[in-house]
Amino acid sequence: MGVEKKILVIPGDGIGQEVTSWGKRVLETIAENFKHKFTFDEGIMGHVAIEATGNPLPDETLEKARKSDAILFGAIGHAKYDNDPTLKVRPEQGLLKIRKELGLYANLRPIKLFDDLLHASSIKPEILQGADILFFRELTGDVYFGEKKRSEDRSSASDLMIYHKYEVERIARRAYEAARTRRKKLCSVDKANVLEASRLWREVVQEIAKEYPDVETEHMFIDNAAMQLIKDPKRFDVVVTGNLFGDILTDEASQIAGSMGMLASASVGDTIGFYEPIHGSAHDIAGKGLANPLASILSAALLLDISFGLKDEAQRVIRAVDATLRQGYRTMDIATKQTPNQFVLGTDAMGAKVLDNLN
Ligand code: IPM
Ligand code: MG
Repeated sequence: MGVEKKILVIPGDGIGQEVTSWGKRVLETIAENFKHKFTFDEGIMGHVAIEATGNPLPDETLEKARKSDAILFGAIGHAKYDNDPTLKVRPEQGLLKIRKELGLYANLRPIKLFDDLLHASSIKPEILQGADILFFRELTGDVYFGEKKRSEDRSSASDLMIYHKYEVERIARRAYEAARTRRKKLCSVDKANVLEASRLWREVVQEIAKEYPDVETEHMFIDNAAMQLIKDPKRFDVVVTGNLFGDILTDEASQIAGSMGMLASASVGDTIGFYEPIHGSAHDIAGKGLANPLASILSAALLLDISFGLKDEAQRVIRAVDATLRQGYRTMDIATKQTPNQFVLGTDAMGAKVLDNLN
């Protein structure tokens, strides 16, 4: 007997609209093939929600989110806001608020290169081959949520970098648990040579490390980690870090997987899971049908695996993506000169190939 689940789809802004429809189609196909019953609802968030209601996260969307078993999200942001820092209501506030409200403190970003994309990265193939990293980015603390201030004359500004012990403990435990199921190596990234918040981070990770003597722990400063990631990505297994460092490091790490268009992420806490590509709204190509739908499709695979425990179904999706790449199908962002018999497709044609390979 299959499972019955409620999924909220929030396409968001820009290419989020185009790519998320493919993540959803993949979930529908899986439900059909495996006799599960997934019911879908849709919500608005980000620039589209500001336009419609004045609020980047309308209460209605938040209520729907709380009632769902998992959420598939697209992207957020609009160039209009990027170029006008004085705007008070901003699309990103919607995403930050939903993370906080749903207690999504752990952001998992798996970085793994599909064999057929070895040449899609700007990094040398011999450096990349075999790299397999799982990032745990803390998602509800740090400068993202610390107090923000602007002086009265508006000539100075500050964002408080703050971590509480319990916040570090819970993300560290999750990362250690994952390391146990992998190569048993954990690298904690901070800036403890300069920042007090990082010294607390390191202290707490050192404490938690004692509970996991079977996992090898390494501590690395963020600047060094940023360098090592490109120099020798294979040295990393599980990486755990704070919100800001994790944001930056995972964009960098996306190059190990060939393109931002390939990377999925899962944000989890104690209840509902939230799944999204790590790429942004890419307004330069939005609406043109050029975006890569694979990150959304792989986010759907993470959703099946983590929120629903449907491992076979998740593997089926990953294999369909792998098969599509093997057949030479590429979106613009992952096309390369080195690929023989390559077919460069738009969003919908690429999504359709994955569906064909699912059946
Ligand atoms: C991400 C994004 C977000 C973040 C933005 C859109 C607020 O870059 O999910 O990585 O900084 O967390
Ligand atoms: Mg980011």
